[in-house]
Amino acid sequence: MKCHYYRACHWLLFCIVYLKLRLFIFKALMNSPLPSQPDPRPPVCYGRLQLASRYLLSPLAGYTNLPFRRIVREIGGVGLATTDLVNARGLLEGSPKTLQLIQTCPEDSPFAVQIFGNDPKLMSEAAQLLEARGVDSIDINMGCPVNRIVKGGAGASMMCRPDDTVSLVQAVVEAVKIPVTVKMRLGWDDQNLTAPFFAREFEQVGVVAVAIHGRTREQGFRGSVNHEGIRQVVEAVQSIPVIGNGDVTSIADADHMLRTTGCAGVSIGRGALANPWIFRQLVQWEQTGQYDPPGNFDDRLQLLLRQFRYLLEMTTEERAISMFRKMGHWYLKSMRVSPALRHQFQCAQNLNDFDEAVRAITAQGPLSGSRSGILPDMHIPVPGGPVERW
Ligand SMILES: Cc1cc2nc3c(=O)[nH]c(=O)nc-3n(C[C@H](O)[C@H](O)[C@H](O)COP(=O)(O)O)c2cc1C
Repeated sequence: MKCHYYRACHWLLFCIVYLKLRLFIFKALMNSPLPSQPDPRPPVCYGRLQLASRYLLSPLAGYTNLPFRRIVREIGGVGLATTDLVNARGLLEGSPKTLQLIQTCPEDSPFAVQIFGNDPKLMSEAAQLLEARGVDSIDINMGCPVNRIVKGGAGASMMCRPDDTVSLVQAVVEAVKIPVTVKMRLGWDDQNLTAPFFAREFEQVGVVAVAIHGRTREQGFRGSVNHEGIRQVVEAVQSIPVIGNGDVTSIADADHMLRTTGCAGVSIGRGALANPWIFRQLVQWEQTGQYDPPGNFDDRLQLLLRQFRYLLEMTTEERAISMFRKMGHWYLKSMRVSPALRHQFQCAQNLNDFDEAVRAITAQGPLSGSRSGILPDMHIPVPGGPVERW
């Protein structure tokens, strides 16, 4: 009897200590004095287009489609969202796959389409087509390192042809009235850090902002982001905003990016997949110095289902299920779903299978952490190895 009593006391004590510890860690994480609230800064403007926040969704081919953009916009805090890279030629030819990439809706605003190509005429015509469809801003891809794009003279390879590239960008700017921006890397390799040169030239021909992924093409995703390199781009331009990009997955990372580079805004890719609440958190932090925790297991499950529903509105059941596998993978990882149930989810062939997997996931809950508590952080890896083999 006495033994049971002591055991119960120990158990109670353990629970109290455990809960207090969790509360302490939560408070330490959410309300820690660092990073402190940033000094007020002017809003980011793309020409006449003033962005609601300085935190932008970076294009991620295969992920930043309309359903995901709707999700992050509903949560709030996003200054601008951009499509995946879109082939200018495919757009002009009316390829159904390409047209699906530029699908949008009234809530998906302001909305930029990122185009790629190496022909000034095609790129200008694609920009005009997008302007006629009501797109708010055009972004030119000059950063994609993938061989398929680079071999065709587009993406990061444009950084190797300064004269042609500046002429192409100028042609696009002159073809439309909406703002034109460029997203690029720091350069082809460490010996050719040409981003400051290009940013200066682009500003001269009317580009309204540049976004810089702080790595070279040769680096792929290896190594760390070169903040000093981004800073040099900020110093090279006269007045256009420079958007810093790369490896921002937390408030502290964004703070570091803003402070060390002097950039006007931050664009976030993988960090938003892992935590779609990051934009709202950043705006809260900017306004109050504090921010709400990201969604818990149940919140994430609701997001997953809503995003899938949005996808079903756009395409057939079969295609939606296959398209959603990539995205579902990260949702379930972030929710700490067991490998067996993640596998069941990935094997779904129709809506019945999908619903069954979701029912099992709902019943089991997270493997670590609790349903209603903060889940451990998740990091999304990038393609590894030499860029040539991606
Ligand atoms: C899967 C994947 C797809 C990407 N697709 C694009 C793209 O279509 N256009 C582009 O400019 N950058 C693309 N990027 C690069 C990202 O926009 C971003 O520059 C890079 O991921 C670094 O930012 P992050 O660390 O916030 O993700 C892609 C990156 C990944 C990992």
